[in-house]
Amino acid sequence: MHLFRFLFGSALILLQLVTTTNNFFAHGFYNKDIGVSVKGATKSTTRANKLLLSNGGDNRSTPITTMESKAQTAKELFGKYFDETRSTEEEVIPVTTAIAVAPGRVNLIGEHTDYTGGFVLPFAIDYSTVVYGQGSVKVSADGNGESKAKISFASALFPDSLKTFEITESSTPSETPDWTSYVVGTVFQYLQDLPKGSEIGLKFCITSDVPQGSGLSSSASLEVAVGRFVETVLGEYAFASDRKQEDFFPPKVRALRCQKAENEWCNSPCGIMDQAISSAATNGSLMLIDCRALEFKVTEMAKESLMLEDPMPVIVVANSNIKHSIGGGEYPIRVAQCKSATDALKKVNPDIVTLRDATMEDVENAKEYMTEVEYNRATHVITENDRTIQAKEELEQGDWKRVGELMNDSHASMRDNYEVSCKEVDILVDIAQNFPGVYGSRLTGGGFGGCTVTLVAEDSAEELMAHIKSEYKEKTGIDCPYFVTRPTRGAHLLSVKDFKPIVG
Ligand code: GLA
Repeated sequence: MHLFRFLFGSALILLQLVTTTNNFFAHGFYNKDIGVSVKGATKSTTRANKLLLSNGGDNRSTPITTMESKAQTAKELFGKYFDETRSTEEEVIPVTTAIAVAPGRVNLIGEHTDYTGGFVLPFAIDYSTVVYGQGSVKVSADGNGESKAKISFASALFPDSLKTFEITESSTPSETPDWTSYVVGTVFQYLQDLPKGSEIGLKFCITSDVPQGSGLSSSASLEVAVGRFVETVLGEYAFASDRKQEDFFPPKVRALRCQKAENEWCNSPCGIMDQAISSAATNGSLMLIDCRALEFKVTEMAKESLMLEDPMPVIVVANSNIKHSIGGGEYPIRVAQCKSATDALKKVNPDIVTLRDATMEDVENAKEYMTEVEYNRATHVITENDRTIQAKEELEQGDWKRVGELMNDSHASMRDNYEVSCKEVDILVDIAQNFPGVYGSRLTGGGFGGCTVTLVAEDSAEELMAHIKSEYKEKTGIDCPYFVTRPTRGAHLLSVKDFKPIVG
């Protein structure tokens, strides 16, 4: 994994927040979670819901960048780098102007199950990446030769570093990928849609407020926002090769393409979860995703508690401020261990294709063919799949206590069987799990640092956050920013006139 090496620093809008959110937004230095932070955002606003985003400082609400503000920032940058009135290439018409948005995500449960075809239960969050730009397509008259793309883009983070790439269908990924690889790798996936010999011209600017390196999928949100933008430019050509499929669902194809971009262009063997939820999330709902079939089941939390005495919950995200590093050595090792565990399982049950197919009985039967580590990894994945399916049902029933137990069990399994937690995250989880009103708490995302997700009674959330702040600092010496969140919508477009979401 090379992507650790790219330093992105913090962006101005994030710096606005840093005064109150400490380092939550300040670490932009991770391999996998590479986004492009908003620089020079012009305004922010305070949410009506006091709980929606707390600051880790003194429990005041913290400003969050509005979608309008992100879009405005990207537009202003675009105006700076590109002359809006000129087409990408003189003879290329028509020019499409579009604004695409894609969110980061929190996974409630179902961790390290996606790359073995299992189940995950994530939701999209308010933090997102925005792409503002123009593009055009020149369709080849004779249908000969390779299609190509000329791409010019800038990030809010690098005001003086406009990047330009020309790629063709036979282009290959850089051996030393950096953040531009997420962008270029994604555009590459769309060349197949055009008739042979065609050309795409793209110029755009990117802003984002997805906290980087915190396990909240800033990189997936970058890929998905770029993908959504390119699709708009391609218009009727977008997904040409996929439209014939019976179950054609653009968010699904987009997710697969973005995952491919990340796997092949960014040296990150990630699963499909992050791109899938960023692409397909429904406003207000979680999604149970079957990562093998790529089926999405909209999951709504019950509007009432199953047990009248259980208060309704909210979801709190807390950041350990330990750098999350999925593309570092450990994530690919887990992927490989799952594969070798599967090979052992095949010896006792040839029907097993991935860990998704195995039961704990199979694992016991195959124990003699496995190392202890492989046994533990398989145990995590198989039990986590069960917990995830159960959690969906309990959420819909409003059985918050049961959901919480499943979350706690998930964390224990990630810590002990899968070994993807770390001391600080365990401390954070422990603080939350022992606080009155908390139903459950666990590590969310790839692990080795990053964030925790906690289901807590709404009335106790403010106190919990204050408690986390002081206890975590006392036990680790590290600040712990946090926020209350709710499920929001997946990739979509904004109107270029008023920056309002275009729904549908
Ligand atoms: C990262 C990866 C996902 C998934 C999670 C762990 O976020 O990108 O594909 O594997 O880790 O659940």
